[in-house]
Amino acid sequence: MTGRILVFDSGVGGLSVAREIRALLPAAEMIYVADDAAFPYGNWEDAALADHVVALIGALTGREKPDAVVVACNTASTLVLPPLRARHTLPFVGTVPAIKPAAERTRSKLISVLATPGTVRRDYTRALIAEFASDCHVEVVGSAALAPLAEAHMRGESVSDAAVFQEIAPAFVEQDGRRTDMVVLGCTHFPFLRPQFERVAPWPVEWIDPAPAIARRLVTVMEGLNPPPGEPTGVARLTSGRPWPPALVPFLRSLGLASD
Ligand code: DGL
Repeated sequence: MTGRILVFDSGVGGLSVAREIRALLPAAEMIYVADDAAFPYGNWEDAALADHVVALIGALTGREKPDAVVVACNTASTLVLPPLRARHTLPFVGTVPAIKPAAERTRSKLISVLATPGTVRRDYTRALIAEFASDCHVEVVGSAALAPLAEAHMRGESVSDAAVFQEIAPAFVEQDGRRTDMVVLGCTHFPFLRPQFERVAPWPVEWIDPAPAIARRLVTVMEGLNPPPGEPTGVARLTSGRPWPPALVPFLRSLGLASD
């Protein structure tokens, strides 16, 4: 499958989605944009963030002319997918907390959503819980610190177990002899901290990362494009306001990504 895909996040977290896209669509051209000048999005005020992201994606799509856009950011997707779809004819694939699969898989009926403060307070997230998990207790845990900690980790800095534990501990709930068994990774940065989450977790849980499902959704969208996208290039490039963390370079290479 060919075509040009614009993948967008506030920072490098969206690379957890980009690597899945790369695996399924190796011949497509991927342009990954990190809005680091505005990172982190988690604490932005909603209206200001919506205006900012809509304007930025408008400028990027005008310049890059992608066939599809992946908003690889829950904090942005839960806010701006409706206005983006209203303004543009090109397809947008969003990233929103994977509450439906968590509700389908839980046995204890205690699930948690670990995300940014912005994502957990969104009506969009509340609506997903009401629609798919009304028979569960859903603990929503907003952390402003974890996305920056994930970026620090990706820059090769050491991130203490204590700092991570403090952020994830509220996601572990015990109720009437039952325990949380599913934790939704509701921020695309978090899969990069998953080994540390697993190490410091009070008990084992299933960590749900929506990235593979997002990549599959993108494949379906690309297959449905009319006219079909152009020549295969397999090129991928990165755009960001600052140099890429050296610790990320081997990972970027493994994705075939070159920084501009
Ligand atoms: N990676 C983003 C998300 O999925 C947000 C991180 C941030 O900018 O706070 O929500």
